[in-house]
Amino acid sequence: MKILVTGGNGQLGMSLRRVAAGVIPSVASVSSGDSLGLWPRNDKENVIPSEASVSHEFIFADITSGPDTVKLDITDREAVMAFVKERGIEAIVNCAAYTNVDKAESDYETAELLNATAVGYLAEAMKAVGGLLVHISTDYVFGKEPYNTPCKEDQKGTPTGVYGLTKLHGEQAIAASGCRAVIIRTAWLYSEYGRNFVKTMLQLTAERPLLKVVFDQVGTPTYAGDLAEAIVKYVLSDEILSALRPRNDKKGVIPSERSEASVSQIEIFHYSNEGVCSWYDFAKMIAEYAGHTSCDIQPCHSEEFPSPVHRPAYSVLDKSKIKETFGLKIPYWTESLRKCIKNLEA
Ligand SMILES: NC(=O)c1ccc[n+]([C@@H]2O[C@H](COP(=O)([O-])OP(=O)(O)OC[C@H]3O[C@@H](n4cnc5c(N)ncnc54)[C@H](OP(=O)(O)O)[C@@H]3O)[C@@H](O)[C@H]2O)c1
Repeated sequence: MKILVTGGNGQLGMSLRRVAAGVIPSVASVSSGDSLGLWPRNDKENVIPSEASVSHEFIFADITSGPDTVKLDITDREAVMAFVKERGIEAIVNCAAYTNVDKAESDYETAELLNATAVGYLAEAMKAVGGLLVHISTDYVFGKEPYNTPCKEDQKGTPTGVYGLTKLHGEQAIAASGCRAVIIRTAWLYSEYGRNFVKTMLQLTAERPLLKVVFDQVGTPTYAGDLAEAIVKYVLSDEILSALRPRNDKKGVIPSERSEASVSQIEIFHYSNEGVCSWYDFAKMIAEYAGHTSCDIQPCHSEEFPSPVHRPAYSVLDKSKIKETFGLKIPYWTESLRKCIKNLEA
């Protein structure tokens, strides 16, 4: 199975490389795709399990090429369509995005192009070859409504800013395309790679005697390594990918029994680490694990930090569905934070 990872140089893209490199192709720990409902019952019955195992070949692409990265600008529709066709891509994991939440407020067109229009191109390309699009979205599609319980997948999107709005448009572009897709909304992503809150706090708490961090925005951090593992080992499990193969490619499937209706299936899942915290709590734990005891970290209100964007006060994601569907156990946020900091210190 050839899987294209777009945005391969970003935080999640880099984490996926690490997980993919250490993964043995046939991961049997998935509970099965049955509960996903991604294909009709007749189809499932015609998949021969022993022949369903496939090897994964990951191709990492980004706007900038590198030794292990192919150049692919996902805003270039023709380039995306040609790439998928010529390379025989059967699934895409889209990690490319306009992720600068503040800057997006004054750059709507670019954010919309990357977070929505280009996502539509990826969906169109997957639809054309009968492939699967795994798209990463965000907790920031929620927030305008004053929630106080974790957000579920079927809750109405209520973004507070341009970033969340354009990401919501990306989800809608996938729905409009009719391709088979898994959308994973995640939150507060950090990793050993690129720029993120953990790395910024590690630096600031080492340098400054006093730091104020907002305590009126509540959510859940996500270690990109955990999300990458969930994608590679569960969402991209052999069982699910083989069941999603184009019809004439798939051994054990009787073509005449497959219905066109099965081609337009989309599942949305929420994934973050377990638990809930404010950015203040997050910063406190970062400093504690790093041993940065000389910095006095104090809680403050969002108004104290003028920002062009109003961020959600509460965007905790309910992860029941992904856990139940895949039999997935998600680490508590402090455990994963400790792991990431250890890796950064190594
Ligand atoms: N970061 C978070 O806190 C967070 C929270 C919730 C959800 N998410 C979602 O999670 C996903 C992964 O986030 P991340 O933090 O890993 O993002 P990231 O580190 O910003 O990586 C995005 C990658 O996409 C690349 N890119 C930009 N324009 C492109 C184009 N036209 N074609 C192809 N690639 C392009 C970027 O390259 P350049 O750097 O050169 O522009 C970068 O390498 C995104 O969908 C994001 O919306 C992130």
